[in-house]
Amino acid sequence: MPAMKNYPYVITVSSEKGGVGKTTLATNLAIFLKALDENLPVSIFSFDNHFTIDKMFSIKGQKLTGSVADLLLETKARDLLHTGQYGVNYIPSSTSLPELRDSLKGPMVLARLLAMSEIPGILIIDTRPDLDVLTQNALYAADRVLVPIKDMASMDNCRNIFELFDKRGLDRKSLTLIPCLIDERIKFEGMFKDQKTLLKAFAINRGFRCSETFISKSPKVESLNTNPDGKIYPILTHGRGTDVYGQFTALGQIALKEFYETEEPRAVLFDKWQKEENQRKKEEYYGRMTGLKSVCLACGKELDQQSQVSYYCESSDGAASGFMEADCFTGFLISAVFKIDRELPKDDPTRLMIHHTARESVFVLNPGDGERAGTIDFHRFDLEGSELLKKKYPLARLPERDGFSGILEGTLAGYEGGLRDAFLMVHPVNGENPASILVDENYREMLRLKKRIAAQL
Ligand SMILES: Nc1ncnc2c1ncn2[C@@H]1O[C@H](COP(=O)(O)OP(=O)(O)OP(=O)(O)O)[C@@H](O)[C@H]1O
Ligand SMILES: [Mg+2]
Repeated sequence: MPAMKNYPYVITVSSEKGGVGKTTLATNLAIFLKALDENLPVSIFSFDNHFTIDKMFSIKGQKLTGSVADLLLETKARDLLHTGQYGVNYIPSSTSLPELRDSLKGPMVLARLLAMSEIPGILIIDTRPDLDVLTQNALYAADRVLVPIKDMASMDNCRNIFELFDKRGLDRKSLTLIPCLIDERIKFEGMFKDQKTLLKAFAINRGFRCSETFISKSPKVESLNTNPDGKIYPILTHGRGTDVYGQFTALGQIALKEFYETEEPRAVLFDKWQKEENQRKKEEYYGRMTGLKSVCLACGKELDQQSQVSYYCESSDGAASGFMEADCFTGFLISAVFKIDRELPKDDPTRLMIHHTARESVFVLNPGDGERAGTIDFHRFDLEGSELLKKKYPLARLPERDGFSGILEGTLAGYEGGLRDAFLMVHPVNGENPASILVDENYREMLRLKKRIAAQL
């Protein structure tokens, strides 16, 4: 049998409301899952900084290497798992998540990290009472989201989670509300005889899916965090015989059933999607590579290993693209734009100055048509797309060639000797690896710049 890569089935516990029983649910569900199915790997981590997970699962004298912060910094999650108590694996918590939050690019980072995490079995994620980018990532990566609600206020709050799911195109069906901290002594007259029935009715009425199982408020459970040892005890070992024990067993069984019924957890789907994306990016990159002209677009000479390529050049219609040598383009600027008609030596200060400013600029050559026919608009922009300079030049007619017509003919030649209705953009590139500008992210960045510039022409 081929070695199968491991992908986690992810259960995220989330609510914007604090103190509704998220951490109690996340940690105890992990323990019950493991107890119900001892061969199933169960792992847990938290985006909160209160270290409950660590207090509950760490083994005395255990050496800790890495934390959830390292996960976000791209360490493979499997390598961060620590064997914990009750057979549950955990990733240690971290206090430095707030600093990392800003560096997280969007809500899909964690899904990607978990797709390549190689964590097997079920992974439970506990979150902060907040819909910050970390929680959003945990929601996006989840196969199942459990939202504890204890009252109307917490149910009102969960509307934001549902809205977020709708906004991201995620399936609302993966969200389950669980009435928690239910005081069963409270009874009502009439149709809704108690709190859980009432909460459930309201949830369904609002189109939320609500769990059949709820979790009672239990003084026993409350006492599990407060004891002379300063430990947090699990319901499995210290709450036998309570209602909550039975409720967690039921919740665990439902979760297991869902887990075994899921053929492809989101991590698998995400991994597949990502491979397709990479393939697409690769193909687009090779497409752009094959479209390149083989000559220097400034002087027309064949480019080879020795050429000092410094600029990428593309027509606005995308039909022509290629590179330019540093000296050729500087030479063009010196003669055609600065109108210096003598040859400047390599170390001439004016030449060096022109070269350096060119490396920080994007140039546009835009031939005129109609009224403007026979002229060319020459622009210099900074790398953010702010215009720094604009000049109009006459465009020499064939057969007298000047620098402008030389560049334009190679790239914008149109029908019967005319020029196409397009402009040419010249962008500096890294001389070591000029083709890197054609790699997906860089190329898209350049296209954004091109758009910004085109809007100003
Ligand atoms: N079933 C229960 N019965 C009684 N007390 C409970 C129960 N579940 C949780 N608690 C208590 O309620 C308090 C809040 O629980 P918990 O820390 O799990 O909530 P939380 O939603 O994670 O809170 P936060 O938003 O601060 O992270 C704790 O003191 C906990 O011991
Ligand atoms: Mg908590």
